[in-house]
Amino acid sequence: MTIEIHEDATALARALAARVCEAVDDRPNLVLGLPTGRTPLAFYEQMRRRSQERPSDWSAVRTFNLDEFVGVAPGAPGSYRSYMQRELFAHVNVRPDHIGFLNGAASDLDAECERYERAIADAGGMDLILLGIGGNGHIGFNEPGRTLAARTHRARLEPSTRASNRALFGDSLDRVPVDGLSMGMATILQARRVVLIATGATKAAAVRRMLGGSITTEFPASFLLVHPDVTVMLDPAASPR
Ligand code: GLP
Repeated sequence: MTIEIHEDATALARALAARVCEAVDDRPNLVLGLPTGRTPLAFYEQMRRRSQERPSDWSAVRTFNLDEFVGVAPGAPGSYRSYMQRELFAHVNVRPDHIGFLNGAASDLDAECERYERAIADAGGMDLILLGIGGNGHIGFNEPGRTLAARTHRARLEPSTRASNRALFGDSLDRVPVDGLSMGMATILQARRVVLIATGATKAAAVRRMLGGSITTEFPASFLLVHPDVTVMLDPAASPR
């Protein structure tokens, strides 16, 4: 695991955007896993900036997002699909049929999870996946528990996870769905390269525990310790002291 401490959250976002654009330039048919949440917002902002100044060609790139809310249609304002459209997809020339997303409003959610696993495999697996981390150690919607589902699955969201997603639902906790669909930890760990970003003091304890050396389902991010190519990008506030 490589740990990088950047000057601040903006510098981190800029460095990550440069790295992602470089990956796209080097490999035009890159298969890229993408996160949502508040942490990556600064990164998406830098991506938009770059795409105005010196756009990369995304016409052959394929993307797969980590997770989505159950019961929320892709076009609904609170969906992660809408978030991604706003933050990134509308600003690069990615083909709509190259955007992989879980549909939380699918009538058969098990079939939807299987479809997603197959789509990732058919794309040749992910070359690079970007991740955030929940304060409780969650990755995507892989919440702490006695067991973890290896593959894409339906997950019950922890109260803290629902609370941190409140802004997407008009700041009303009651409106945040109780379940999500998420890539599993095995799906994530099959990506050839992983970059995890964490910023702000509220993430310092989670980062410290992730780096602590013990692998446990009670802290899903700890599974990243088994991956051979993980970079953890931090700002000073999120760095373990
Ligand atoms: C959300 C997302 C995760 C994200 C995490 C951290 O619930 N499902 O993929 O990494 O929680 O979010 P934030 O960056 O807002 O702290």
